[in-house]
Amino acid sequence: MRDFSLFAVCRRLRHIVALTGFALLWLSGANADPRTTNDLVYSKAQAKTGETLYKQHCLTCHDKKYFRPVFKVWNGQPLGIIYAVMSASMPETNPGALALDEYVDILAYILSLNRYAAGEEDLHNDDGALNEITIAPRKKK
Ligand code: HEC
Repeated sequence: MRDFSLFAVCRRLRHIVALTGFALLWLSGANADPRTTNDLVYSKAQAKTGETLYKQHCLTCHDKKYFRPVFKVWNGQPLGIIYAVMSASMPETNPGALALDEYVDILAYILSLNRYAAGEEDLHNDDGALNEITIAPRKKK
């Protein structure tokens, strides 16, 4: 006999919710762009723009080697995490002072500082694209 007590129904619902969650996770995994920071995700021109901004807003506190260990700590995480941290909390003395695109340009410069190879296309965060790029150890040519 089927048990329609509230408790039993809740238990069944919980399974459905969990299974749907797994299915969505699997689907999003299957569709995810498997790009990493090694896949020529920014352009040289953009890094140049970012360099000017970095010198104005970041260099006083972060020298050019600051982000090497930071990328090691965040290895395997989406690049969007570093972007989220810096756009929300940096510069420390004036958080969020820059335009969002300027933070993206600075991030391109940081990628060049960490000696990832540049490509033809600019780094961008349209539709949260930075969350689709995984931080990986730099591939040597
Ligand atoms: C007034 C000083 C100051 C300025 C200017 C500044 N920062 Fe920071 N920043 C800090 C401090 C302090 C921390 C946290 C302590 C640490 O990890 O060194 C930090 C942490 C960070 C982190 C997190 C690092 C991690 O380990 O996760 C990022 C990313 C970052 N800053 C980016 C920037 C960028 C980009 C700019 C320029 C737009 C900037 N900061 C300007 C002081 C500053």
